[in-house]
Amino acid sequence: MQIIRSPQEMHRALKRLKQKGKTVGFVPTMGALHEGHASLLRRARKDHDICVLSIFVNPKQFGPKEDFKKYPRPAKEDMALAKKEKVDIIFYPSAKEMYPPDFLTAVEVEGLSDVLCGQFRPGHFRGVTTVVAKLLNIVSPDEMYLGQKDAQQAVIIKRMVANLNFATTISVCPTIREADGLALSSRNKFLTSAQRSEAANIYRSLKHAAKRINEGEQNAPAIIHDIRSFLRQQTSGRIEYVACVDTQTLAPLKKIRGKALIALAVRFAGTRLIDNMIINVR
Ligand code: PAJ
Repeated sequence: MQIIRSPQEMHRALKRLKQKGKTVGFVPTMGALHEGHASLLRRARKDHDICVLSIFVNPKQFGPKEDFKKYPRPAKEDMALAKKEKVDIIFYPSAKEMYPPDFLTAVEVEGLSDVLCGQFRPGHFRGVTTVVAKLLNIVSPDEMYLGQKDAQQAVIIKRMVANLNFATTISVCPTIREADGLALSSRNKFLTSAQRSEAANIYRSLKHAAKRINEGEQNAPAIIHDIRSFLRQQTSGRIEYVACVDTQTLAPLKKIRGKALIALAVRFAGTRLIDNMIINVR
């Protein structure tokens, strides 16, 4: 397993591999790796000759009042997980390497970045698309793997890749959950034990909604109302949003037909949790 810290060195290493005809699967992360990340690495490992992981806590996607400083950085544990998953190359740059003093460029997917999580995290997705565009240019992977856990992020990145003609296939992989349904997240460790057990109700609220939809409820506002009251009754978290939107445009739906994305964010004191479910009504 090679650890590379500079974009220039990545270019050299990847060029050599590509010349040998190797295909590259890539998983971008901010570290604090868990089974969710591992599931993406396994896909990349299975589908490609070379498996590349990036670990970079990207300052540009954190707001001034967000948890950039507090974000966990367990370097040793991350290395061990990467080794176990047979990662070939870890790209592990410093903020100075990624954003030198003359850095002036940003990539933004307009519109899609301002809704759902974007309403509560201004500038967040602009930070994400800027760093992912850089990572794609640094790694030039054949395929990049993202988690459905961050549904809006996946929609936005797919749009960026299409609009800017990046030659990378994007694959979105299922959300990995704890036994009680809570989606794995690097932020779960910030929950108190009481908040942790309440947080399982986030996924329960989505499953409950899916059941009602399968039983015939098509009215999106009614479903949203249902999820909100479930969350209010079962958790002490503060609901940021519950939305039922088109899976591509993220536009709010009135009636649920075909595919719909139900997405939500709940805040437990300083810890913000998100989850979502794609519903397919035939
Ligand atoms: P991070 O939160 O570290 O997540 C890295 C990747 O792992 C993302 O594609 C995310 O959707 C996926 N992931 C996280 N939890 C998951 C789970 N429980 N199941 C399946 N996949 C999961 O997302 C980011 O980092 C950053 O925004 C990044 C794309 C790296 C840009 O900085």
